[in-house]
Amino acid sequence: MTEPAQQPDETPQKMKPSIIRRLAVFGLVLFLGLQLVPIDRHNPEVVADINAPEEVKLILRRACYDCHSNETKWPWYSYVAPGSWLMAKDVREGRDYLNFSEWGDYYEMEETPEYFLDECFGSIESGEMPLWFYLPMHPEAKLTAEDMKILKEWCQAEESVVSEEIEEDIES
Ligand code: HEC
Repeated sequence: MTEPAQQPDETPQKMKPSIIRRLAVFGLVLFLGLQLVPIDRHNPEVVADINAPEEVKLILRRACYDCHSNETKWPWYSYVAPGSWLMAKDVREGRDYLNFSEWGDYYEMEETPEYFLDECFGSIESGEMPLWFYLPMHPEAKLTAEDMKILKEWCQAEESVVSEEIEEDIES
């Protein structure tokens, strides 16, 4: 090979390591900076935990409580951004939609818990809940056919209790 032919290659090769190093430093600084954003990992007090048979509660605790209760167990990745942001957002939104730690209060509301029972089982049966990306990290949250059966029977039984109570209220 002749001397001039090698020259065009030389410059980019020399530059490469320094670009990579700069990107790495930039990435590290960005990552550390992200950790400074404050995250709310507060678990409010449990005011009116769901009143259900123990077997039902155990399933809900396993599969739903991290996002739909005030008893969230914050995993290690909830301490490292950006995982922490995603987790905090899911918990905030999850509690807003449905909070098993406030379930008792739903019975006091104008809108009866029928709505929640319907929604609750519907979301499980359709496979929408628990959220799919939660499962690889929490294999214990996967619902078996037996779990589904227990939840379905409880939801149906509870719905008929609730609708009887409404009828009684209307009659009296
Ligand atoms: C990883 C967090 C997470 C887990 C675990 C989880 N949910 Fe949710 N859930 C959410 C979020 C976030 C929302 C609101 C946004 C949405 O619908 O995706 C929600 C919404 C809901 C809703 C309202 C649905 C709607 O479309 O209005 C119901 C009902 C529900 N969840 C039930 C459950 C039940 C029952 C379980 C357990 C079997 C469960 N969820 C497990 C995060 C979670």
